[in-house]
Amino acid sequence: MGPVGEAATVIDRVVTERGELVLRHRAGHYEIISNGVFLMDTRAGASERLLVREALTLVRPGARILIGGLGVGFSLAEAAASPVPAEIVVVEIEEALVAWHRSRLAPYSAHALADPRVRVVTADLVAWLRATDEVFDAICLDTDNGPDWTVFPQNAALYDDDGTALLRDRLARGGVLAAWSASASPAYAARLAATVGPVTTRRVEVPRGEPDVVYLARRVPGDDRPGVCG
Ligand SMILES: C[S@@+](CC[C@H](N)C(=O)[O-])C[C@H]1O[C@@H](n2cnc3c(N)ncnc32)[C@H](O)[C@@H]1O
Repeated sequence: MGPVGEAATVIDRVVTERGELVLRHRAGHYEIISNGVFLMDTRAGASERLLVREALTLVRPGARILIGGLGVGFSLAEAAASPVPAEIVVVEIEEALVAWHRSRLAPYSAHALADPRVRVVTADLVAWLRATDEVFDAICLDTDNGPDWTVFPQNAALYDDDGTALLRDRLARGGVLAAWSASASPAYAARLAATVGPVTTRRVEVPRGEPDVVYLARRVPGDDRPGVCG
């Protein structure tokens, strides 16, 4: 992930019930490794910002935004830079990662943890979505490398039929679900269209490999389908 030959310095290493989480520094950038899987680094961030920027174009001022997965904070920084959201809820599973945003990673989330509009919840997004009755005008989902490559097997529950319906149920009518993926997933796009509403796709070229993909699915304003719990 970093320039060949550059040694990485481990800044912090914690063991959670999901495995090992490492923050390391290499050639002027931070990298997060979750249980041996590269999760995110501070080098780019174009598609993680686009995820939020595109969603915000589809909501009104005063909107309530949910961001699933804090990472290095590019998505949160984009949300906090906008006057549109009145409330930004971030659900992040790793307590240590949230703590890093009070120190090393604070510049990358633009010190947004101190923004009075921002509420960080340390929880598993799947469990939190099942327990809450909060609804959002936009949900920005970036917990994984995409619907077809989750960091934990249990995160598949965010992308399957039930998980997609659960996310839809947490959207206000007319709200938008924005989902990030490291590669195109036609099956997931079809599921979003069938479960949430009309889908648009944005692609972001990356230096190596397939473009990153952002799916935007709009819950139709008159949607009164029963929820997964209803
Ligand atoms: C790819 S990173 C997010 C990148 C972020 N959009 C950014 O701008 O840096 C994924 C994040 O989701 C978190 N995560 C993974 N599974 C989760 C879950 N089930 N619930 C909440 N957070 C989760 C990871 O710990 C990580 O912080």
